Amino acid sequence: MNEIIFYSLLLLVIQIILTYYFTNTKRFSVQACAMNLSWLYAFYYFYKTKQIKYLMIPIILRILFLIINITYGNIPKYITTDYLYSDFFENIIKNNKCCEFYTEGDYNGLLPFNTIDKNKDLEMDIQNMGLTSYNNAINSKNDNIFNEGIMKKSQINKYKWIVENLGITSNSKVLELGFGKIDLMNYIRSNTGATVEGTNLSLEQIQTATELGFKCYHINHEDLSNYIDILDRYDVIITNGTLEYLVNLGENGIKYETFADNIYKLLVPCGKWYTTTIHVSDDFIKEKNERISYDLIEHYLKNENSFMNIYNLYYLAIGNEGSYPVGRNGLIDYVKGRFKVVLQQDRTIDYLLFSYNWLICQINNDRNDSLLEKIKKNIKHLICFFVAPLYYASYICYTPTSDWRYQPWLWQFLRQDNGYRPVDHYWIIFQKNE
Ligand SMILES: C[S@@+](CC[C@H](N)C(=O)[O-])C[C@H]1O[C@@H](n2cnc3c(N)ncnc32)[C@H](O)[C@@H]1O
Repeated sequence: MNEIIFYSLLLLVIQIILTYYFTNTKRFSVQACAMNLSWLYAFYYFYKTKQIKYLMIPIILRILFLIINITYGNIPKYITTDYLYSDFFENIIKNNKCCEFYTEGDYNGLLPFNTIDKNKDLEMDIQNMGLTSYNNAINSKNDNIFNEGIMKKSQINKYKWIVENLGITSNSKVLELGFGKIDLMNYIRSNTGATVEGTNLSLEQIQTATELGFKCYHINHEDLSNYIDILDRYDVIITNGTLEYLVNLGENGIKYETFADNIYKLLVPCGKWYTTTIHVSDDFIKEKNERISYDLIEHYLKNENSFMNIYNLYYLAIGNEGSYPVGRNGLIDYVKGRFKVVLQQDRTIDYLLFSYNWLICQINNDRNDSLLEKIKKNIKHLICFFVAPLYYASYICYTPTSDWRYQPWLWQFLRQDNGYRPVDHYWIIFQKNE
């Protein structure tokens, strides 16, 4: 058999075995396969002919895929998110309870300032205090205010806020769409006696929730309309840090409207929908056109620090396979016919504090890992780099860096010298219109 065909088949077999036997997600990626083959051809023909042009094959293919990803999304869709939650985070949280929380808590009352105070000087003080803590962690100073204790307290603070503000009691039926490691569902069930159910894309997370006795459904947000007759009717529906994964790059915001229609159908009369969602900041709204990805690139190209901004934007967008509504009313405008806004709070500072907390916990935990643990974790990452199309981008997005300016997750919450901050984060309570 022709040598190159043999190597191609071998590569394919290795990818199939690694995908189905060594990952939690177990979804085969055509895009990863095409990229792997392109690397094989590039090195094979370069080795045989010594012509450098062959090394361009994977670069050209990567550019082609980038265009496809920006205009259409992943092939298949939601595969990056699936590997992110079923493999990447599962690997990170091993023996690291602090990083098991995937979205911000409520830091009010835990630190000596009010996180909903919109004073810019105060915001800069908080930002700088966090950066000092981050740098201390990088420089191996172990004693850090952002530890597991404060992470847990801030999460419990938020759960209490949710129960009080949504009026959840033992008679309530609650549905969490896109639950994470079940702490919120557990809290609501054990502190109020309410009936709590959940949906998720990640089979790994569904398995854990089912083991804890929760009724769970394997439903992708975009397919919710197919499950209206299967799901119950609920007093409260929660989307806590998960709508960011609904609209893929290349899609438009109309998906928020369809999603809200489904929530409307699933709520009892006067039922409430609580969402915590990152929004592209209001500063950007003036430039808003049709396609958000192009608009963002254009915006950063004409402003200062273009390289740093585009680097972070790229890894944030590609590593997460989603996008954010634009401006303070970015989500509200799509749903206002069906819902009225009961409350909207700007919680960007809480998300900033959480991000410091989460990254610092990761830095300190990694330092304490044994050599064997480190090797095991890195082998798992390597397998996923090989079988999942954009796993490397998820890895870069969520891995602490020695230079905080190149940490894509953190970047979005930091106000820059020119006063610009990429995102705002809102807690919104909607009530169903009759
Ligand atoms: C940032 S985490 C938030 C988890 C949880 N709500 C919490 O507060 O910790 C996002 C969650 O949404 C889920 N998810 C992401 N994309 C989804 C989709 N398209 N359909 C359903 N669930 C999705 C992920 O598996 C993950 O559990």
